Amino acid sequence: MAATESPSRPIGSIEVRRLAYGDLPGVLSIERRSFPAPWSLAMFVLELSKPSGICLAADTGDGLAGYLVCSRYADIWHVMNVAVDPERRREGIAARMMGELLETAGRDGRYTLEVRVSNHGAIAMYERLGFRRAGRRRRYYHDNGEDAMIMWLGDPGYIG
Ligand SMILES: CC(C)(COP(=O)(O)OP(=O)(O)OC[C@H]1O[C@@H](n2cnc3c(N)ncnc32)[C@H](O)[C@@H]1OP(=O)(O)O)[C@@H](O)C(=O)NCCC(=O)NCCS
Repeated sequence: MAATESPSRPIGSIEVRRLAYGDLPGVLSIERRSFPAPWSLAMFVLELSKPSGICLAADTGDGLAGYLVCSRYADIWHVMNVAVDPERRREGIAARMMGELLETAGRDGRYTLEVRVSNHGAIAMYERLGFRRAGRRRRYYHDNGEDAMIMWLGDPGYIG
């Protein structure tokens, strides 16, 4: 490409695409800087191997800026993991990945997740996307005994 031509991806832009096994070193790097009890490599491999799941990567062109893991159980989508590189937060990256998930899985679908009750930033993000609080799971997190906030997007009343 000549020096005057534009690159196919504008500098600084992010592409949201399917997460691949080759992304896992980058995933683990972000995971370990994001959570007090990070997932193991085996947990990510298991989720990626599920054909019904949706796993997304936020790709900067020369690395990973974030990822999202969502599993499907019956007709319910369970958001299992979302994280963004600490250097790239508050740029809208997680919101873009969540938007892509909702487009791919369907905006009329039913979605649930658990989040630490102290994780006000993540709770604010999910509420902005339309998720609503629907109770707690007591002492859900084994590392510190913290409660999980259960959140739903779509009707939580019917388990089909
Ligand atoms: C939670 C997390 C994924 C958000 O990623 P992000 O890319 O920074 O989020 P976005 O930039 O898309 O935020 C979208 C909106 O969510 C809300 N939000 C996100 N992070 C917030 C924070 N720390 N405090 C308050 N509001 C926040 C804001 O409304 C934000 O919009 P704004 O920046 O225009 O105000 C990121 O902070 C992270 O990786 N945290 C560690 C891992 C984690 O807790 N994951 C969630 C587990 S359930």
